[in-house]
Amino acid sequence: MNAADAVTDALCELHTRFAGLRDGRLADYIPQLALADPDAFGLALISMDGHRYSAGDVEVPFTVQSVSKPFVYALSLSVVGLDEVGRWVGAEPSGEAFNAISLEPGTGRPANAMVNAGAILTTALVPDTRHAPRFDRILDYLSRFAGRQLDVDEQVYASEALTGDRNRALAYLIRSAGPLPVDPVAAVETYFRQCAVRVTALDLATMAATLANGGVNPVTGDAVVPEPVAAHVLAVMATCGMYDASGDWLLRVGLPAKSGVSGGLIAAGPARFGLATYSPLLNPAGTSVRGHLALGALSERFGLHLM
Ligand code: DON
Repeated sequence: MNAADAVTDALCELHTRFAGLRDGRLADYIPQLALADPDAFGLALISMDGHRYSAGDVEVPFTVQSVSKPFVYALSLSVVGLDEVGRWVGAEPSGEAFNAISLEPGTGRPANAMVNAGAILTTALVPDTRHAPRFDRILDYLSRFAGRQLDVDEQVYASEALTGDRNRALAYLIRSAGPLPVDPVAAVETYFRQCAVRVTALDLATMAATLANGGVNPVTGDAVVPEPVAAHVLAVMATCGMYDASGDWLLRVGLPAKSGVSGGLIAAGPARFGLATYSPLLNPAGTSVRGHLALGALSERFGLHLM
């Protein structure tokens, strides 16, 4: 069997192995997310030559949620620079849940750009001008990472905007902590919209592959972000991407990754591949149960652990 067939075979085998599993729960604190199909399950891998491998529901649309965070972090690093972003957002694991307060004592800086507090701040750091409104820039970047024009699921956006007071509270806490060059309270509404951008597992695998490929989308050839930015984002995904489960994930799966509450999960093998899974049944940490198991099994089978 050649290498390409082995990858397709492995994805199909994992799909068959975990498709029947019913563990986990749909997220319901954003009411629209509770309407997802609990049986949906897809796996996709994009190689550095842009080849697509997939199994299952890889073209089913869902909202990107927290999987947007590394890409908006990449955008703010590209525009504002590592040092300036680092003045306002840390790069240390919080050891806490995604929606915890996680502000550094003393400075009030969010722990990292993967938890909600830090993601609201990185969204706020994206410039907002009349000719290029903040959300337009974000949607444009997410689309370039995916290699096609993405759009917003307005119902999910409205659902989170109605129920998102905890994120608004985080934004107020961040603003109260000190003199910021930006307004996180205004940016939180843009953050909700960013989380409601619609993607598929194939899109997410392409986005992860773009980070793995030094910022160049391997399908379209578009240089979306500079190579050092892609490396910085992967570093923070490795240490913080799975929140308070980041250490265990790096220990066992060994790949930079990011989860989202709608059931998307990405992992990147630097200079090798981008991987994504979609399955909306979640564990208590807000990570897809089938996705976690499938990526763990794939890493073990092909020896993908980076260390
Ligand atoms: O801010 C929120 O709560 C959601 N829009 C996104 C959270 C999320 O995806 C957490 N990841 N597992």
